[in-house]
Amino acid sequence: MKIIIIGANGQLGYDLVRVFENTEDEIAPLTHADIDVTDLRSASETLRNIEPDAVINCAAYVRVDDAEDFPERAFAVNALGARNIARICRDLNSILAHISTDYIFDGRKKEPYTEEDTPNPLNVYGNSKLAGEYFVRNTLEEHYIIRSSSLFGASGASGKGGNFVETMIKKARNGEEIKVVDDMIMSPTHTRDLAGMIKKILIKKLPFGIYHAANQGQCSWYEFAKTIFETLEMEANLSPTKTSRLQSKARRPIYSPLVSIKLEKHGLEMKNWKEALTDYLVEKGYLK
Ligand SMILES: NC(=O)c1ccc[n+]([C@@H]2O[C@H](COP(=O)([O-])OP(=O)(O)OC[C@H]3O[C@@H](n4cnc5c(N)ncnc54)[C@H](OP(=O)(O)O)[C@@H]3O)[C@@H](O)[C@H]2O)c1
Repeated sequence: MKIIIIGANGQLGYDLVRVFENTEDEIAPLTHADIDVTDLRSASETLRNIEPDAVINCAAYVRVDDAEDFPERAFAVNALGARNIARICRDLNSILAHISTDYIFDGRKKEPYTEEDTPNPLNVYGNSKLAGEYFVRNTLEEHYIIRSSSLFGASGASGKGGNFVETMIKKARNGEEIKVVDDMIMSPTHTRDLAGMIKKILIKKLPFGIYHAANQGQCSWYEFAKTIFETLEMEANLSPTKTSRLQSKARRPIYSPLVSIKLEKHGLEMKNWKEALTDYLVEKGYLK
């Protein structure tokens, strides 16, 4: 297969390039400098020249709080950009794997969200990503929408300037007081595992549709931070706080772990987040 990866130097894109490298599949990694998903005409020309069998769209506006002030930017990339790529894929007879998020849910559920749960986003970012999902679904039959959650990966989120694990380690090394919320629950997910699952979904030609792909298990951000320090046996001035104390612009779902009932049916599963965290710490050279 010839596979285009859009957003190739982002956090997930970086690991996608690595999982497809040195395989029989041919990849064309495209960065923001190579393609602007908001520009239908030039994006169409770029993709047409490559003639892909599949496109993986990781391009996104991921700054959740900024999106509240600049909704037009979030919708341009996450909704209309997704529509553009779906239209181009339809014209080129290409499959599209589009990446989405747990933030399309409102967090009122008490157990992990499945592919069958009804979205109800609380913030602009989540609304723009859900609009992107609808555009993809309604434009192109041959699509995968792959939702994931709370990503951490070797390259760090380019749209956010790092990732949670690195931020925690840096703060601890600087001896800073670290307060992390213990009432917001999610499934931390290593982008290397997510990239591996996206590859399996494509290569195994799973039925088209929505898939949840996140490391198994759930924890609060506080528990995640505590586990980072415990695993590294690192001293840290860490204490729990509450979401209500944070003065963030965007409302976030208080509970957003994802589980897949569809991957399981195909004998696929992702490892637990604690194991994934250890892999990451080894990958980055923090652990032997
Ligand atoms: N980060 C998370 O915790 C999280 C959780 C759940 C789901 N997701 C989803 O996972 C996907 C990947 O996220 P990530 O963490 O890898 O984010 P990321 O590191 O910020 O990567 C996003 C990529 O999109 C590129 N991009 C932005 N605007 C673009 C445009 N108009 N045209 C083309 N490329 C553009 C960025 O390039 P520049 O930086 O050069 O602009 C960057 O390479 C996104 O769909 C996101 O919504 C993320």
